[in-house]
Amino acid sequence: MSLKTEISFRLNGRAVSVTIPVTMKTLTMLREVLGMTGTKYACGEGECGACTIRLDGRTVNSCLMYAVDCDGRELVTIEGLKTENALHPMQQSFVDHGAIQCGFCMPGMIMQADYLAQNNPELSCEDLRRGLEGNVCRCTGYTKVLDAVTAVVEARR
Ligand code: FES
Ligand code: FES
Repeated sequence: MSLKTEISFRLNGRAVSVTIPVTMKTLTMLREVLGMTGTKYACGEGECGACTIRLDGRTVNSCLMYAVDCDGRELVTIEGLKTENALHPMQQSFVDHGAIQCGFCMPGMIMQADYLAQNNPELSCEDLRRGLEGNVCRCTGYTKVLDAVTAVVEARR
């Protein structure tokens, strides 16, 4: 029987408490305990970025992180980006630029893109390429992704 513990944290602006096995990963907790299935499981090894979330303002691969390490912290998932009635500007820009195909990589890609755009007002195309290199997409070829993020960065200038 695996050892369990209770943890408390904020998820998308709301207080959450859960009892979880101490060996559970954050991605599993989000998807299977909390029903937040927007964050995707792909490689499970920190290689693809599909599981990217924000933790205390920084992006992390939730497949690599133990859920117990969320205790007392602030998490944001793709579900936390949109408002009640509208997509987040980054989500909308991906739609407007046709940057989404199968969509599987998109929650992680958009979380990382938004982090880059928020924290680098002078983001260059090269910065963007480097910043997104941990987010793998098998469909889009990345050009429209770069267009979508660049449009958001330019609109904020
Ligand atoms: S599922 Fe986490 S990096 Fe691939
Ligand atoms: S849109 Fe299909 S993996 Fe990126």
